[in-house]
Amino acid sequence: MNDMTPDGYTTEDGRKIGAVVMEMRNITLRFGGVVAIQDISFDIREGEIRAIIGPNGAGKSSMLNVISGFYHPQEGEVWYKGAKRPTMKPYEVAQQGIARTFQNIALFEGMTVLDNVMTGRIRQMSAGLLSQAIWKGKAEREEVENREVVEKIIDFLEIQHIRKTPVGRLPYGLKKRVELARALAAEPSILLLDEPMAGMNVEEKEDMSRFILDVNDEFGTTIALIEHDMGVVMDLSDRVVVMDYGKKIGDGSPDEVRQNQAVIDAYLGVAHD
Ligand SMILES: Nc1ncnc2c1ncn2[C@@H]1O[C@H](COP(=O)(O)OP(=O)(O)OP(=O)(O)O)[C@@H](O)[C@H]1O
Ligand SMILES: [Mg+2]
Repeated sequence: MNDMTPDGYTTEDGRKIGAVVMEMRNITLRFGGVVAIQDISFDIREGEIRAIIGPNGAGKSSMLNVISGFYHPQEGEVWYKGAKRPTMKPYEVAQQGIARTFQNIALFEGMTVLDNVMTGRIRQMSAGLLSQAIWKGKAEREEVENREVVEKIIDFLEIQHIRKTPVGRLPYGLKKRVELARALAAEPSILLLDEPMAGMNVEEKEDMSRFILDVNDEFGTTIALIEHDMGVVMDLSDRVVVMDYGKKIGDGSPDEVRQNQAVIDAYLGVAHD
């Protein structure tokens, strides 16, 4: 990361990463006596694939929940596109172009894949019931446009063959892919993925890795992801934040964090002071 400038840097594989788009400043989050996040700062740059790793209970999901507005830290600031973000509800964060998937799949099991992916378009549906009645043309135009985006994403993630299948009938790996599709339907500028490959077999992980890289490459989406599989993290990510017991213990390129002694200790279960 020696070539990092305020404007960005070039990755080893030649991709151009831009300026800082999101910045966490001294975030502390407590649940009663539990300190889930302790004074953590890090940034995410435009176009980057940023991984958050760490042992179970380290505070990774909590951090994603702070970014997405599900949790509100007691201390610290979130900066987005150069401005300090006020306390926001999740839907307001979503309206700013930040979409997410969940560690535990959160889809409508009884609905088809297509309908689940369509729910990702809610942000783009301005035509409410009343305006739909009055401005039929506008609602119809929106419907067509929403359909087009959704179909493009269904093609992109290669789930055409299950588009009419109720999600409840799908195997786990495909459900994860449908959840990614729904997040992408919002056409986010930042995508937050909480363990997108957890519970998958090797082949499913390879597919998901490829889709994540393709999303980043083709749509220019900035991605922050939590992942336990170190091989996947090393392959996918440009920079890695390492958390342990709510603290940041490492931050840098995959090579840098791999050689960081605190990180090695955390993963080997060495006792903490
Ligand atoms: N809603 C909550 N209420 C109370 N405690 C919580 C809540 N969410 C998280 N915690 C606590 O905060 C700490 C961090 O949890 P978090 O889920 O962020 O960890 P994680 O790094 O995502 O772990 P995992 O790898 O197991 O998913 C844990 O001690 C957890 O019990
Ligand atoms: Mg988690």
